[in-house]
Amino acid sequence: MNIRTPKDWELPESAVTDEAIYRLRNRRDFLKTLGVGLTGAALGTRGLLAAAAGFPDKENPLYPAASLKPTAYNFITSYNNFYEFGTGKDDPVVYANKGWKPDPWTVEIAGLVRAPAKFAVNDLVAKLGGIEQRVYRHRCVEAWSMVVPWDGFPLAKLVALADPKPEAKFLKFTSFLDPKNAVGQQDSHFGWPYVEGLRLDEATNELAFIATGIYGKAIPNQNGAPLRLVTPWKYGFKGIKSIVKIEFTDRVPSNTWQRLAPDEYGFYANVNPQVDHPRWSQSSERVIGGGIFAGRQPTLMFNGYEKQVAALYKGLDLTRNF
Ligand code: MTE
Repeated sequence: MNIRTPKDWELPESAVTDEAIYRLRNRRDFLKTLGVGLTGAALGTRGLLAAAAGFPDKENPLYPAASLKPTAYNFITSYNNFYEFGTGKDDPVVYANKGWKPDPWTVEIAGLVRAPAKFAVNDLVAKLGGIEQRVYRHRCVEAWSMVVPWDGFPLAKLVALADPKPEAKFLKFTSFLDPKNAVGQQDSHFGWPYVEGLRLDEATNELAFIATGIYGKAIPNQNGAPLRLVTPWKYGFKGIKSIVKIEFTDRVPSNTWQRLAPDEYGFYANVNPQVDHPRWSQSSERVIGGGIFAGRQPTLMFNGYEKQVAALYKGLDLTRNF
């Protein structure tokens, strides 16, 4: 029998369960844990409302683990940022599904590596040993958040396959260019294609992930088909979608949002409730899809993944390196 110890960032049960059943059961268990029947007699109004809405009371000891309840599929796939297909949250679901076909798709691994290569997506996934599931918090720099059950593979596996040379210190990720089908790319001021970067040690952290699916289904176009980066301790803009090239370099890649607004967006983009965006607070976040009682919840340092990633930034001034 194959017994495996869950990692400390893992949610015990998730998207493998039907979404509706999962949500229902979780809510029932949550109420049971709190020791209340349906009348909710033992809870104050605030606690009861929080539980009924499927979100925990801040004062409850289950917080924040209980908040890792996956956001409903329809919210994850219809409230998006994907500027190649427009700037509105509801643009990508429409325009990324009109004419743009991210299949077949080739991704290139290049730069300071011993094994440069071009792979068809399915071949790459097979070579890396298939896909696994990760339920992660997803926190946008705009101060909204979700919880997403991703499918995909650890980025560290791809790094090992590429076999970086000793001079390689960073990874530069590049998204596709297709102004004919990606209407947003017809506005050239953005400076397409979208580019992101990671330090090599960030890329090999156990949390760094390349997603190929959501809720056990192929990743929808609007979420970055067929391959997108997921770094849950960083703001969502680091999670570059629809990657065509991963280049290993010895210098810091100039990422799109930092190039566009260097005073507002940096290279690191680590979630940090103590360092505000110049135009808004980062201390709390609006929970997407949580229902009318969900409201806002406090933002956690490194989005709740401090234990896994804090060591990467030891000695770094996070106020300057935002
Ligand atoms: N990747 C590309 N290529 N283009 C984009 O506009 N937007 C980023 C990131 N990746 C973006 C991108 C931003 S700002 C966020 S918050 C996340 O994607 C949103 O991911 P989601 O739509 O799956 O929630």
